[in-house]
Amino acid sequence: MILSWIEAFYGFLNGLGFPDPPHAALVHMPIGLVMGAFVLGWAGRITGREQLFLSARDCALLALVFLFPTVLMGLMDWQHYYRGAWVVPIRMKLTLAGGLLVLLALVSFLAFRRDRASRNAVPVLYTLCLVVAVGLGWFGARLVYDGKIVAAVTAAEPKASASQAAGERIFAANCRGCHPGGGNVMDANRPLAGSPALKSPEAFLGQIRHPRNLMPAFPPASISDEDAKALYLYVTGAFGPPGGKP
Ligand code: HEC
Repeated sequence: MILSWIEAFYGFLNGLGFPDPPHAALVHMPIGLVMGAFVLGWAGRITGREQLFLSARDCALLALVFLFPTVLMGLMDWQHYYRGAWVVPIRMKLTLAGGLLVLLALVSFLAFRRDRASRNAVPVLYTLCLVVAVGLGWFGARLVYDGKIVAAVTAAEPKASASQAAGERIFAANCRGCHPGGGNVMDANRPLAGSPALKSPEAFLGQIRHPRNLMPAFPPASISDEDAKALYLYVTGAFGPPGGKP
């Protein structure tokens, strides 16, 4: 249920012309603000200027606010792009994000206090926040750039899901009219669901390239071999292999 909402959300973003992970865009807000709090906080500590302390505090507060949508988008991207694969960088990111949340909440609270102990602790906490934020970025980069991890994620759930989604679009555009729900509106005795033509990708390709009776043929110009593979994945996933439902 939630997963289908997530997919609908990414479909919507895609429709707007934004195919990239939103977390990657949003993450600049909390990271930049943590950096701001760190620089201004230490500048305030060194110069003793109240203005700088206040600016640092506002940065930390805003970083805390932006952390929520950023984490939410991170979780959604993880489901959508990584299929929820439980790999080390993800575990580290979840832990560090929890840590950053606690630190930012604590430092925002202390920054409102005027006693000397809080004043001294705050820049140190900004530094810790920055270290944790850098750690989050480092593990994020492992997810995106580390070939081994990318391979592990791909193995956890092969591209099937992405191409299955492509298959679903191709089905909707070319087949659903005659085969709604895997049936057959032209010849009820020849439903798509459970058809022997679903036994293998070759048999399937044979059916769409050279159908025997009333079904129109789909030459490579209308459905490429690549698309046919995605379509096959979708059709067998949605309507089951020959002889039964999945
Ligand atoms: C204009 C209607 C129509 C469209 C569009 C259509 N089909 Fe068919 N399909 C049929 C009919 C009629 C049959 C019965 C056998 C035949 O005519 O070849 C059939 C048969 C099939 C079968 C074999 C069922 C059996 O009896 O074993 C498969 C598999 C199949 N279609 C898949 C597809 C796919 C995939 C698409 C989209 C790329 C598609 N069809 C588009 C009408 C259609």
